[in-house]
Amino acid sequence: MKYNNLIITRAKDQFLYSGKRKILDFSLSSGAMILGHSNKVYCKSLNEQLNKGSNYSNKNINEVNFVKSLQKKFKEFNNFIFSNSGSEANIRALRISRTANNKEIVAMVNGSWHGSIDNFMFDFKSGKKIIPNKIKSLSSGIEYSKKNILLIPYNDIKLTKKILDKYHKKISVIVIEPIQCGIPYKKSNDYLKFLEKYCRSKKIILWFDEVITGIRVKDYAVYKQFKIKPDIVTFAKCFGGGMPLGLTLFNSKLIKNNKKKIFFGGTFSGNPLSTKVGLDTFTFVKRNKKKIDKHINYLSNLLENEINSYCKNKKINFKIQKFESIARPIFSSLEINNRFYREKFDPNFENSLKLKKYLLKKNIFISSNCCFFISFCHTEKDIYYLINVLKKILSKNYF
Ligand SMILES: Cc1ncc(COP(=O)(O)O)c(C=O)c1O
Repeated sequence: MKYNNLIITRAKDQFLYSGKRKILDFSLSSGAMILGHSNKVYCKSLNEQLNKGSNYSNKNINEVNFVKSLQKKFKEFNNFIFSNSGSEANIRALRISRTANNKEIVAMVNGSWHGSIDNFMFDFKSGKKIIPNKIKSLSSGIEYSKKNILLIPYNDIKLTKKILDKYHKKISVIVIEPIQCGIPYKKSNDYLKFLEKYCRSKKIILWFDEVITGIRVKDYAVYKQFKIKPDIVTFAKCFGGGMPLGLTLFNSKLIKNNKKKIFFGGTFSGNPLSTKVGLDTFTFVKRNKKKIDKHINYLSNLLENEINSYCKNKKINFKIQKFESIARPIFSSLEINNRFYREKFDPNFENSLKLKKYLLKKNIFISSNCCFFISFCHTEKDIYYLINVLKKILSKNYF
């Protein structure tokens, strides 16, 4: 949805520029630029590759080195499939799942975003409660078919079990954004553990879509942090360091009894430019991970504490809910654990859009889904500026 007439002319560190207008960016390429726009690593890396070509249509040295480096960090997996985006990584994951067990249904969690792919653009219809068979597609041109897709409610173990019990024999895979950008809810661990146990007992593949969380969170991935073993993990965003890159991780054991050949094409998949910037960014992050985590957690805690205590004191129905550096405005003082419930307080996303427009007037840009991605390039001053602007709008009873 278009909500501004901005045309960006350049970007550097935590700022976007539209001509002479300077805008503080809390989207940072929808969470992808954890080190900031045109950061030193990105510029050096691009420069080094500039005269060496951008695509060879063959395995290349940057790709080989990147895989070696990834293997050390993600030891559970021995297949690292490159593509150009999170959506493409997910298409590959879907193909792997269906090859592995030949079943039809993909169970996905409501409120998850897995990219602009026809297979996944569904949600529960809004209403007073979640009704499993009331499902809507997020765009015209996409038909819902219960033969292929099943929705389960995030963080609702009881209803999820009821739905899964009915269909489990036909379910190939459960895909989940383990910490949803739509609802960054810290206590999702129980739900994830439940899914892990359920999948093991019913021989269903468990796939974590960590396109947003990959690299950004402590331990590089939610599955590592929560000690859960998904069969497939997909990454993108931060892994490209600013270039288009997607990754699908799985272990060969998953398809060991299968004689079918899985085929992945892609003109630019694993190209030397994206893999060079991705590898150099990953190497920099590995060397500085503690420092990066400490900085972004300090800043995001500051935002959360300041705004939430302000709203509590003033009895304002608003809060910042966050998982580490992924922070979201919630138009309620309650703790919300499911996007379905979030929408009760923000019908049709109207409050979010109002907030976004107001922030932009104050030269603050947030991501299209209204998340704040706190990043390594942000400073304490940036956070205080955001806090003060938020307090001002909240004090005016704007929502
Ligand atoms: C969790 C998740 N999965 C997949 C995607 C799709 O990634 P891309 O936009 O790179 O295709 C996104 C994008 O925001 C995402 O947040």
